Amino acid sequence: MHQSILSYRGSRYLWWSLLLCLIAIVAYIVDEPNMPPNGGTVLGYILGTLSALLIVWLMWFGIRKRCYKSKMGTVVGWLSAHVFLGLALVILATLHTGFQFGMNVHTLAYVLMIIVVVSGIYGVFCYLHYPRLMTDNRGEVSPDSLMRQIQEIDRQALVIASEISDETHERVLNSIRRSRVGGGVLKIIFGRHKKANLEGLVQKAKVQQKIMKAKNVDSTMAFMASRITHGREDTSELLRQLTDLLIGQKEKLLAQLRRDLQYKAYMDLWLYIHVPFSFALLAALIVHIFSVFFYW
Ligand code: HEM
Repeated sequence: MHQSILSYRGSRYLWWSLLLCLIAIVAYIVDEPNMPPNGGTVLGYILGTLSALLIVWLMWFGIRKRCYKSKMGTVVGWLSAHVFLGLALVILATLHTGFQFGMNVHTLAYVLMIIVVVSGIYGVFCYLHYPRLMTDNRGEVSPDSLMRQIQEIDRQALVIASEISDETHERVLNSIRRSRVGGGVLKIIFGRHKKANLEGLVQKAKVQQKIMKAKNVDSTMAFMASRITHGREDTSELLRQLTDLLIGQKEKLLAQLRRDLQYKAYMDLWLYIHVPFSFALLAALIVHIFSVFFYW
């Protein structure tokens, strides 16, 4: 799906866009207006009208994307056309200006357009880049399935913890309540996720793991290690199971899920620039057109 944005139907919209740009460039070169090239020459008006129509059509994609019953082409086809014709717009609009820039609403519209286009290019990069990272991160396992596995681990951990002691059960329960996943886009990207708060329990378990690793100990030594760290012989095996569940398995799944959400958030972040600036561009475009005809 994501690769096909660029190669959709043999990249037909790439060729259409290149042709459009070529015609515009040739027309600009051969055109000999009786004033310096600008938006007010005949060619300037033609290029300006084309650019304005293109902008309205590019914005229409937001509506087309949400019309699931629409029979006007596929969304992938629209997106492919959106990307290539959106890039062609830069050439058309630049030639329309005749390279006459200044501190005015016309240049403001142009700058907003460039911001939208640059954010769009970054968006295409995201569409091509992040889905691959997401697959590398969690393979074919869906985020829902990761969530279900985490819930199952929590359930098992509570059962084991309750066999160890009430205090352990309470701590595990608290840790489950405190370990959060998700939130808003910015929180996912910049926020530090609260780690499962197992306090002393995890510390003891980690010490136990270190001792076992350092000495390459067998189960008897593990039992001894747990006595050293925890002081209760009858709960060492349960504590080991709990450690394995909460540190070994759950932390790994949580990290996968959080990374997945982070990639998804990066994929959405650029739209926070692309869409609002598109609307700002539309507003500036209306003012630009209105002021041109008002002062004319
Ligand atoms: C002035 C030119 C442009 C305007 C006004 C514009 C406007 C829009 C709008 C309104 C959407 C719909 C967003 C939504 O509702 O979710 C959109 C989506 C998108 N645009 Fe643009 N765009 C422009 C140029 C570009 C360019 C040049 C590129 C890439 C090179 C691009 C890439 C994208 C992509 C990848 C999406 C898909 C977002 C999605 O479906 O999640 N855009 N654009």
